Amino acid sequence: MPSQNPHRLDRSVVPNAYRVHIATDLEGALFEGTVSIDAVASEATTTIVCHAVDLSIASVVVHSDEATIGATASLDPETERLTLELDDQIAAGPVRIEIAFHGTLNDRLVGYYRSAFNTDLGPATMGVTQFEAPYARRAFPCWDEPEFKATFTVSLTCDEGLTAVSNTRELNRTLLADGRTRFDFAQTMIMSTYLVAWVVGELEISETVDAGTTQVRVIHRPGQGHLTSFALECAAHAVAWFEDYYGIDYPGDKLDLIAVPDFAFGAMENLGCVTFRENLLLIDPERSNRSEQERAATVIEHEIAHMWFGDLVTMQWWEGIWLNEAFATFMEFCCADSFRPDWDIWTSFGLSKSQAFETDALGNTRPIEYEVTTPAQAEGMFDILTYEKGASVLRMFERWVGKAAFRDGVRQYLGRHAYGNTDAADLWDALSESSGVDVKAMMNTWILQGGHPLITVERSESGLRLSQRPFGFEGGDDAPDTHWIVPVRLSGTIGGEPFERQVLLDQPELGIDLDGPVDWVTANSGFTGFYRTEYAPDLQAGLQASIAGLSAVDRYAFIDDSWALFLANRRTLEELMDSLSSLTATETEPSVWRRVVGIVAALRSIAPSTAVDFAAFVEHLIGDRLAPAADTTRAPATPAELDLHAVLFRFAGTIGESTDVVAQAHELFAGLPDSTAGNPELAAAVLDVVGAHASTADFDRLLDIFHTAATAQEELRALSALSQAPDLELVRRFCDLCATEVRTQNAPYALAQAMSSPVGGPLVWRFVAENWESLLERFPSSSIVRMAGGIRSFSTPDLVEEIHAFFADNDLPQSRLTLAQHLERLRVNGAVRQRLALIGDQRAQ
Ligand code: BES
Ligand code: ZN
Repeated sequence: MPSQNPHRLDRSVVPNAYRVHIATDLEGALFEGTVSIDAVASEATTTIVCHAVDLSIASVVVHSDEATIGATASLDPETERLTLELDDQIAAGPVRIEIAFHGTLNDRLVGYYRSAFNTDLGPATMGVTQFEAPYARRAFPCWDEPEFKATFTVSLTCDEGLTAVSNTRELNRTLLADGRTRFDFAQTMIMSTYLVAWVVGELEISETVDAGTTQVRVIHRPGQGHLTSFALECAAHAVAWFEDYYGIDYPGDKLDLIAVPDFAFGAMENLGCVTFRENLLLIDPERSNRSEQERAATVIEHEIAHMWFGDLVTMQWWEGIWLNEAFATFMEFCCADSFRPDWDIWTSFGLSKSQAFETDALGNTRPIEYEVTTPAQAEGMFDILTYEKGASVLRMFERWVGKAAFRDGVRQYLGRHAYGNTDAADLWDALSESSGVDVKAMMNTWILQGGHPLITVERSESGLRLSQRPFGFEGGDDAPDTHWIVPVRLSGTIGGEPFERQVLLDQPELGIDLDGPVDWVTANSGFTGFYRTEYAPDLQAGLQASIAGLSAVDRYAFIDDSWALFLANRRTLEELMDSLSSLTATETEPSVWRRVVGIVAALRSIAPSTAVDFAAFVEHLIGDRLAPAADTTRAPATPAELDLHAVLFRFAGTIGESTDVVAQAHELFAGLPDSTAGNPELAAAVLDVVGAHASTADFDRLLDIFHTAATAQEELRALSALSQAPDLELVRRFCDLCATEVRTQNAPYALAQAMSSPVGGPLVWRFVAENWESLLERFPSSSIVRMAGGIRSFSTPDLVEEIHAFFADNDLPQSRLTLAQHLERLRVNGAVRQRLALIGDQRAQ
C-alpha cells in the first residue's frame, strides 16, 4: 500500500493535468520553468507534498475555489520531495498549484541534460530529457510515480532558429518580442511522468511517413538526413504490426524518433517522442552490417512495443519494470521476425538468452520479480535477467499455450487496463482466461524463484524419462527441492520417422511413452525453454551424430548447453571440444558461429596456455572454410554468407592468430575504404583483426577513423578495434582516451571490452581501479556496473584476489547484486582454470 512505504507519496492530493512551460538557455546551460498542476485534494489540508530535486523554487501559489493562497516551499534532497506549507487551509476538492522554478542542464544524462556535438559552424548542444526513473522531478515539480497518471501540456521557449519537440503535435509557434521562439504542444493522453519528454536544439527533421494510423518522423542533429530511411521503414512496419497484434490503434498523436548524441541507455519509450543513441537509430543501409541493422531494428521495435505495453498500460510501481521490459523484449523479436524473415532472428535471440543463462546459473542470481521499496532498488532490475530471462520465459509460455491464445490474452489485458496501471497478476488473469491454463501457477515458478532447471533425458522401457533439478555452475545442490513447471518440447526421430511432443514436467520426474526407441531426441526443441538439457551418453552421442539435421536454433542450443555443462563440471574439456568440432564440421549459420566464437574466446580467457593450443584448435574448427572466407575476390551470394565469412575471418585473425589472415587484414586496412566497399561485414572484421595486432601507426590510423567516422556505427567499430591493442603503451593510451574524449555513453562499455583483451586486460582493470572515483563521477550512474562487468573475463588467481579485495572497499549500492554476480563469475572462472591446469599438467608430463 502506498501510504505504508515512506518512498511513496500519499494520495491526499492527486494531480490530473499539468501545464509545463520550460524556457531553455542552451548556451548558459540553464532553464526556467513554470508548472500549473490541476489536482484534487481528498480532504482539507495545509500541506501538499510532491517530488522535486536539484531545482530552485522561485514562487508558489495555490488556487482553491475562490481563494488564492501563498505557500512556503522546502526541498528535501534525501527524499527528493518538495513540501508546500500553505498559508491557509484548502478545502477538499479541486486545487490548482502554480510553481515557478529554475535549474541547470546537467551533464549526467538524466533529468534535463545537455548533449554536445559538432556542426559545420562549430560546437553545439541540445537539451534532452530522460525521466525513467525517476528523474522527471529533476526538470519540474511533479508526483513522480508511475501510478499518478495525468495529462501534460508542454510549451517550450528557446532561442531563435532552434527546434523543439515533445510528446505531442506542435499546435503553435510564436516569435516572442525578445527574439526567442515559443512552441506549444497538444495535451497528451493520461500517462505517467516518466514518459514525458522534450528535446530542444539545432535539429533536422526527416520527411513524414505514414505508419498504421499515425505519422512517423526521424529527428537528428544537422547533416544526417541520409541516415533516416532505415528507421522510417522499420518504424512504419512496427506501428502497423503492433496495431494489428494488439488490436488497438497507436495511442499517441504522432511518433517522433530522435537520435541523441549523448544517451545513458540504449533508447527510451517516451510517448510519441522516443529517444535513441545515434547508432541505434541512424543507419546507412549500404555501409552498416547485419548485426548493426538487427540491433537498431530490434531497439526501434522494442520502444514502439512499449507505446501500448508500458505507455498506455503502465506498471503500478517500479517492481513492474521487469514485466514491462521483458514483454517489450519478447515483442521486439516477434516484430523483427515479421520485418525481416530472412534474419532468422530467433537464432540471434539465442545470443542474448545465453547471457541470461550465464548469470542465472550463479548462486547470486535473483528471482525475476522481487519487492521494490525504493526507486533505487528498481535500478537493480535493469539487468539481463529482467530483459532476457524475462523475455525467454514469456516466449516459453507463448509456445506452450499457442500464439493466438497468448495474443488474445494480451489484447484483453491492454483493452481492459488502457490508461490505467497494473501489476503482473492482471496479465496472468487475462492470459489464463484466453488460454485456459493456470498461468499464475506456472509463471510463479519462473518468476518468484531465481535460477533454472537442468532437465535430464534418458531412455526408459517405454520411451523416455525426464527429470529436473536446479542448475548451477557450482552444483545448485543446495536447493534440491526447488522445482519448476516446465513446458518441454521434444523432437527427434523414431525408426527414422520424425516425431514431436509437448509435455508438462510439473514434478521432479516424468515418464513419456513413445511408439518405439528414439534414434535421437532434443528436449528443448526450438530452444524455446529456459532450461538446460543433459542427455544420457547414448542419447548425447545420437544427437551429436544427427547434428547436421537439426534446425539452426537447435544446433545453437546444443552447443550452448555443452558450454554450460562444461562450466558446471558435468562435461570434460575434451567432450566440449568434441562437441564444438562435430557442430562446426557442417555449420553455416552466422549466429551459431558467433556462439562458437564466444565460447572459444571465453575458454581462452579461462584456460591456462598449457591446456589448449588455440591457434591449432581454431584452425581445425574453421577447416577449409578459411579459404573462401579469406578470399575477398569471390563475391558471396547472400548477406548471410557475407556475414559468415566476416565472422570466420575475425575468428581466424584474432583468437586463431592466423598469420595469413592478419597479413590480409593489414592489406585491406591499407586499402580502406575501397578495399571493403560493398562489404561492411568485412570492414568491421578487418578493423578488429588489425586492432588486435596494431602497431603504433595502425593505432593512430584507427584513432583517426574513430575521430572522422561518417556514422556512429563506424565510430564504434573503430573504438572496439582500439580496445584490443596488443601493446601496453597503446593500451594505456586507450584508457586515457576513454577517460577523456570518448563520449561518456560509450567509454564504460569500451573499458569493459578492453578488459577482455588477453594482453591489455589486466592493465585496463588497474586503470579503472586507480581512477575509480573520477570515472564514477564522469560516467552515467547506470553504466558503472556494466564497466565493472569487464572483470568477468579474468580467471588468474592473483587477479581474482585483487579484484575481490578492491570491491570489498568500493561498493556500488545501486548495483550490489549485479556486482556480486560479476565477482562470483570471477570465482567460477578461477575454479575452472584450476581444473584445466590439472589437465595441462598431465599433458606436459
Ligand atoms: N525503458 C527502457 C530504458 C530504461 C530502463 C531507462 C530502465 C531507465 C530505466 C527502454 O525501453 C529500454 O529497454 N531500453 C534498452 C534498449 C533495448 C534493449 C531495447 C536499453 O536502454 O538498453
Ligand atoms: Zn524497454
